[in-house]
Amino acid sequence: MNLRAFLSSFLAILLVGALAACAEQAADPPLKGASIGGPLNLVNQDGQRVSDASFAGKYRLLYFGFANCPDVCPVDLAVLGAGLRQFETDDPSRAERVQPIFITVDPERDTPAVLKRYVANFHPRLIGLTGSEHEIQQVVTAYGGSALPDEPNEAGGYNVNHTRFILLMGPDNAPIAIVPHDQGADGVAQALDQWVR
Ligand code: NI
Repeated sequence: MNLRAFLSSFLAILLVGALAACAEQAADPPLKGASIGGPLNLVNQDGQRVSDASFAGKYRLLYFGFANCPDVCPVDLAVLGAGLRQFETDDPSRAERVQPIFITVDPERDTPAVLKRYVANFHPRLIGLTGSEHEIQQVVTAYGGSALPDEPNEAGGYNVNHTRFILLMGPDNAPIAIVPHDQGADGVAQALDQWVR
């Protein structure tokens, strides 16, 4: 190799390095630095208190909704569950680091027992969390959501209008990205593949 060839390959390596650095920068999580999230201190589907320490080292895939939700929640949770199963098939070791979590916006009706039956429909590792009305309100607000119950009907049933998003948080409990719920299991699996290390 003459000097000229050596120099041009050396420059090419430098250039590749610079491009790789750019790509890394461009791949910052979309929610990096966003003030979304906060401590979790709620009750799981087995009636046990859980906190952030319960999910140490795990990515958290969060969804807010309620068990009586007629259509939106079941559809989104089915997509979440199928997407996670797909990621588990593609890359079991990284998928193990993802904890799917359903947080109720209807703590009055969604007791641990109700949640236990409900979450089992969507993924074997899906956790259901509930708490006091105050605790739930705090968490929903901290995570950028909202939940507003309608007036009950004659039978006492009511709907809860709530925000609809699947949120991926990192093991450090920092927000990473909103995961698409409208692109099927593929969209969820792709987002997990992109962000979970
Ligand atoms: Ni819903």
